[in-house]
Amino acid sequence: MRKTIIAGNWKMNCIRSEAKSLVEDLKVKTAGNTDAVDVLVCPPFTSLTLVAELLEGTGIKVGGQNLFWKDKGAYTGQISAPMLVDAGCEYVVIGHSEPRGRFGVAEPDFTPEILAFFGDSDATVNRKLHAALKGGLKPIVCVGETLAERQAGNTDSVISTQTTAALKDITAEQAANLIFAYEPVWAIGTGEVCEAGEADRVCGVVRSTVAALYGPEVAEQARVQYGGSVKPDNAVDLLSRPNIDGALVGGASLKATDFAAIIAAAPELQK
Ligand code: 13P
Repeated sequence: MRKTIIAGNWKMNCIRSEAKSLVEDLKVKTAGNTDAVDVLVCPPFTSLTLVAELLEGTGIKVGGQNLFWKDKGAYTGQISAPMLVDAGCEYVVIGHSEPRGRFGVAEPDFTPEILAFFGDSDATVNRKLHAALKGGLKPIVCVGETLAERQAGNTDSVISTQTTAALKDITAEQAANLIFAYEPVWAIGTGEVCEAGEADRVCGVVRSTVAALYGPEVAEQARVQYGGSVKPDNAVDLLSRPNIDGALVGGASLKATDFAAIIAAAPELQK
């Protein structure tokens, strides 16, 4: 049985005072409504400890938005799995399209040289996944195609290639407990949601890739979220689909009312 999981990715938003108000508002608006689903928020690193303290004793967990694969050392600017755990994280997002340098909203001044700054690749995503699991974190592994890749008819091959590469040397037991997020890059922050039937179909591509690597039983256990312009008004349609086990929510997770409504839209969907 797969429990629905709703995650809020705050991205580079919320200084500590804003994080505090958002979490306090969220606590009120979700009170008593987080048992049937797994719920987490992923604030920026600077607000992690504050948010984790404020959410203690509630059903809402905390995740990091990224991590580095070494535990410690001379890696200026990086954050390790033990540091995330120490800051109160239970989850971590890995391989989001933005740190992969793949953006849904056009960034005209991001030349190829500038885009190289973001740097994540299938190989670093795999290292990060191993580091997260070794550190005891629950990873959310993101995959997704750009608009150009979709228009070229390459959606399914991009998704299966990214999924397979992320899973290099991951055991069947580890894979069964993973959370994937299918996030079509062109739907992120654009207001353009992937039609629910198509989102479900591509989440199914993630699952069948896992099945090809580990067999159907493992694939049945792994959870696959959809992410990309999830809002209260499209959440029910998306979340009721057979292959969509939750949502990774960006913009709408910054509004307590909207995030609470998305959580409430996730009925007790054990699939
Ligand atoms: P939006 O919900 O703002 O489109 O962002 C989706 C996302 O990237 C979540 O990780």
